Amino acid sequence: MALRMNVQARLDHRFAATYNRFMAAAERRWAYESRGQLLSGLTGRVLEVGAGTGVNIPHYKNADHVVLVEPWPAMRSQLHQKVARDARVATTVVDAVVEDLPFPGASFDAVVCTFVLCSVEDSYAALAEIQRVLRPGGTLAFLEHVRGGWLASRVQDLLTPVIRRFAAGCHPNRDTEGDIERAGFTVLQSETLKPLPVVPWFAPFVKGAASPADHP
Ligand SMILES: C[S@@+](CC[C@H](N)C(=O)[O-])C[C@H]1O[C@@H](n2cnc3c(N)ncnc32)[C@H](O)[C@@H]1O
Repeated sequence: MALRMNVQARLDHRFAATYNRFMAAAERRWAYESRGQLLSGLTGRVLEVGAGTGVNIPHYKNADHVVLVEPWPAMRSQLHQKVARDARVATTVVDAVVEDLPFPGASFDAVVCTFVLCSVEDSYAALAEIQRVLRPGGTLAFLEHVRGGWLASRVQDLLTPVIRRFAAGCHPNRDTEGDIERAGFTVLQSETLKPLPVVPWFAPFVKGAASPADHP
C-alpha cells in the first residue's frame, strides 16, 4: 500500500514537472488563444480552481481580484513564480481543494475551470462547491476535454484507468458539460472544439459559460 502511494506520488510529481511541455504544442496551436477568449472579459472577483502551472494568469486583464486555488505543492510553486512574473491584476494563491473551498457563499463573480473537472475525483462534489461560492447570476467559465462520440468514448472508457494513473487523475471519458447541467447550472454558451491533429482520448473540447440555474 505504502509502495503504491509512493509510486503514485512520483507519477504525480512527474506530471506537474512536465505539464507545460506536454501542453506546449496544443497551447501554441489553439489552447492559449481559447483561454484568452474565455477569460479576458471576466470582471470582479474571480476564482480559478486547480490553477496548475498558471497558464491562465496573463489572460486576467479586467478582474478586480483573482484567487488561484491549487492543492499540489509541485504545481503551486510554479504558480507563485508565474504570478510574480505575469499577473496583470491583484492575484492570490491559495492551497485548497475545489470540494472544500475556504470562502464564504456567493463570494465570487466568476469561477474558472480549465482542464480540471476531468481531474477531480468527484465532479458533482466539485460543482456543488463551485455553485456555493458563486454569487447569484455569476459565471462558471469552462474549457475542458470531454467524452467523445460512440467509438471514441469506447476507447476513452478502456484507457481511463491507465490515463488516471499517469495523468494525475484525469478521466478522459467524462461528459463534463452534461455534468455541469446535471449539477444545476444552465449552460449559456458552449462551443465544441476539435483541433487537429485529433488525439482520440483527449478530444473533443468544450469551451463555454454557465450560470447557477436558479439565477440565470
Ligand atoms: C490538467 S491540470 C490543469 C491545470 C490548469 N487548470 C490548466 O488549465 O492548465 C489539473 C489540475 O487540477 C488540479 N486538481 C486536481 N484535483 C483537484 C481538486 N480536488 N481540487 C483542486 N484542484 C485539483 C491539479 O492539481 C492540477 O493542477
